[in-house]
Amino acid sequence: MEKIIEKASILIESLPYIRTFYGKIFVIKYGGAAQVKKDLKDAFARDVVLLNYIGIRPVIIHGGGPKISSFMEKMGKKPEFIEGQRVTDEETMDIVEMVLGGLVNKEIVSLINSHGGKAVGLSGKDGALIKAKKKLLRKTSSETGVDEIIDIGLVGEVTGIDAHILNTLEKDGFIPVISPVGVGTKGETLNINADYVAASIASALKAEKLILLTDVPGIKDKVGDIIPTLRKDDVKNLSADGTISGGMLPKVQACLKAIEGGVAKTHIVDGRVPHCLLLEIFTNAGIGTEILA
Ligand SMILES: Nc1ncnc2c1ncn2[C@@H]1O[C@H](COP(=O)(O)OP(=O)(O)O)[C@@H](O)[C@H]1O
Ligand SMILES: [Mg+2]
Repeated sequence: MEKIIEKASILIESLPYIRTFYGKIFVIKYGGAAQVKKDLKDAFARDVVLLNYIGIRPVIIHGGGPKISSFMEKMGKKPEFIEGQRVTDEETMDIVEMVLGGLVNKEIVSLINSHGGKAVGLSGKDGALIKAKKKLLRKTSSETGVDEIIDIGLVGEVTGIDAHILNTLEKDGFIPVISPVGVGTKGETLNINADYVAASIASALKAEKLILLTDVPGIKDKVGDIIPTLRKDDVKNLSADGTISGGMLPKVQACLKAIEGGVAKTHIVDGRVPHCLLLEIFTNAGIGTEILA
């Protein structure tokens, strides 16, 4: 009996959060380890379905880097990255689109559906959701000290989001699952970092939260301790001195962009912790790192 009462009290404790977030949009970037291990995948899908049933509106953006690299290797191509971004020639773009849209996206869609949700997979091409332009990297040459522009191929940055398709799906209770492929001005297909796509979509939808799942417990400081909250200036300093680097750079930039775009809260969360989404949403302290304006 006591056990049952305890269960009821746990449910009641979440009431204030459910009340606050009822009807709100949460944009969730699904990546890192949570996308690889079977038990974590199931926990993620269940969390998303639960959120949906209690009246929160989840929108999922996914990555899929490791799978793209493994297919590139199978096809005899060597993955190459500059400043954390994949160098993307035409053949690589085909592989990116096939793996993300065909394999990874559909896997997430069926996972959510198998737990009782109604998910629909989209790429940035569907409903002209993600407009993009070719991204050029600016890098200071270590030899000359001069800024040089590096062409990394068919890599894009978001220039606009047409949220019509998302609103239409959500009205009927569908959970959108989006692969980060955009369309350029000349109709070309562009590969975009999923963290940036998640931020742009969160801004366009004026989401309550942007949550980025990753494979570390949060943002680490110089000695490796997790920083619970970070502000814009901290991000600037920690990026400049190299404490934040690689794949964490687009994440912090994405969070700042989302806040500027009107998103209320942004979080970087450890996707290796089972039910990390629920822990972040239904506890006061949250988990991982919160980025504030
Ligand atoms: N200050 C930092 N704190 C935590 N992780 C960091 C930091 N700087 C760089 N990283 C790296 O960022 C990685 C997460 O980005 P990424 O590899 O792109 O994963 P994801 O699949 O989640 O996008 C971490 O695994 C870590 O190696
Ligand atoms: Mg990444």
